[in-house]
Amino acid sequence: MRLLDPTTQPDAIDLAAQRLADGGLLALPTETVYGLGARADDDAAVARIFAAKGRPSNHPLIVHVPNVEASYQFASAIPPVARQLMERFWPGPLTVIVPRAEGMAAASAGGQDTIGLRCPDHPVALQLLQAAARLGVAGVAAPSANRFGRISPTRAEHVVEEFNEQGEGLDEVWVLQGGPCEVGIESTIVDCSRGHPVILRPGRLTRVELEAAAGMPMGRSTPEAPDPNAPRASGTLDAHYAPRAKVRLMSDEHLDMALNMVEPELAARPFDGPKPAPRIAVYSRSLWARRSARPGLVFRPMPAEPVQAAHDLFADLRELDALGVDLIWVEAPPEGSAWDGVRDRLTRAAAA
Ligand code: TXA
Ligand code: MG
Repeated sequence: MRLLDPTTQPDAIDLAAQRLADGGLLALPTETVYGLGARADDDAAVARIFAAKGRPSNHPLIVHVPNVEASYQFASAIPPVARQLMERFWPGPLTVIVPRAEGMAAASAGGQDTIGLRCPDHPVALQLLQAAARLGVAGVAAPSANRFGRISPTRAEHVVEEFNEQGEGLDEVWVLQGGPCEVGIESTIVDCSRGHPVILRPGRLTRVELEAAAGMPMGRSTPEAPDPNAPRASGTLDAHYAPRAKVRLMSDEHLDMALNMVEPELAARPFDGPKPAPRIAVYSRSLWARRSARPGLVFRPMPAEPVQAAHDLFADLRELDALGVDLIWVEAPPEGSAWDGVRDRLTRAAAA
């Protein structure tokens, strides 16, 4: 593993771009989460991503481009609604699915005849994509830089945790430092390839903002109500984004009741006996202020505001997981489209 830091190494971006041009693996920062990148126009390079992540190779990846123009080489057509969304939100946390240019980036697309495109709003990512483009790299395929099914990394240190131990026969991962990710959950994905736009994955951009920019209503594919035409996509699997601990989502009332029930049991049972008491982390917007930690219980406040909650979510889940708790009890986020992204990730974490 090699760490490149543009704040201390003047040639970090150039080395990272060369790494991509050579077909190597490079984890890169974006405003949403860190991605595990390889040049999108090289099927052998892209195969290294699937191997390193342990991800099935028929799951399509998102291709990152430095600007709107660079996306044209991957698309056979840019539907008008896609163009409107790209022009409004790029660079930014939005992926559009469009018909794929024949013979282009087949491995990145997981063999689908569509391709996911995104221009990230992160200064290091944009400099990297521009430098790579000068070396002939058309775009960078990058799924989130975590092992398959696990929590997406929002700091370079998380990527190091995920890929420090390099498995046998796997390519070394280089990591480009870009600081903590501002958004904290993955991009909103809008499928623009099928006539009517469908939100495949919610993110920071809300349905209201997207529909205003598109000038039309959008369909929505959720775990509860999957769009039957939606392609298979790992970010849309029911169980995903999972910590090692078991996650349970509950209303604040149910959470309170569950705590009332478990507290006497925790008090009575030792933590290191033959049948040890479970260790429970409580991640909640309201309860942590009303109750205090006791042996076996850890309280962690969830931010009360959805943008901040998304920003903290994956880093907090990682930290709670690292405490070695058995259970993470989470207060369900409130209704409302501003919470869609956080609710979606927590629902999938709880389904694992
Ligand atoms: O914010 C993000 O989108 C991050 C950063 C690194 O850009 N990337 C990310 O990639 O979340 P990944 O692979 O973890 O999730 C991409 C999702 C997957 O669910 C994938 O199946 C879906 O996008 N996807 C990509 N191309 C697609 C396509 N052609 N059709 C349908 N879904 C697609
Ligand atoms: Mg992912």
